[in-house]
Amino acid sequence: MTPILKSDILKNGRAVTEQLERILSRYKGERGDLIPLLQEVQTRFGYLPEEAMQGVAKFLRLSESIVYGVSTFYAQFKFTPTGKHTIKVCRGTACHVRGVTRILEEVEKQLGIKPGGTTPDLEYSLESIACFGSCALSPVMVVDETVYGRMTHEKVREILKR
Ligand code: FES
Repeated sequence: MTPILKSDILKNGRAVTEQLERILSRYKGERGDLIPLLQEVQTRFGYLPEEAMQGVAKFLRLSESIVYGVSTFYAQFKFTPTGKHTIKVCRGTACHVRGVTRILEEVEKQLGIKPGGTTPDLEYSLESIACFGSCALSPVMVVDETVYGRMTHEKVREILKR
């Protein structure tokens, strides 16, 4: 499956509809298709666009409130676009003691966003997380699947430059 650029989706609302039609064509339209369909939509777009949720509801002959209710029940579903890369900064005790607050401030400064935010170009999303389980490496920052330990301001700048 070729990923489409999220910026393209935002620029052209039709992209959602076209991609959704392709996804729907592989399903029979049974109610049991709801979760797999939402999962596929999220994999495709990185979140559940409103137009896609409406399309799924229509396809399955369910009310939009049911589709919305089911999707909000599961933590795996997101309702706003997320960046191509996700940066997580640990806010656990060990990381806190070793100065992660200043690391987080540096990331916020470099990206111009706060935790829970996404850069306007949809390149980065920033999250703060509870203990990541790598306390010996604190302070810890995770970029996508890569864990960076013993973070410093310089390391933040270096990593984001890449
Ligand atoms: S407190 Fe940050 S990894 Fe455990």
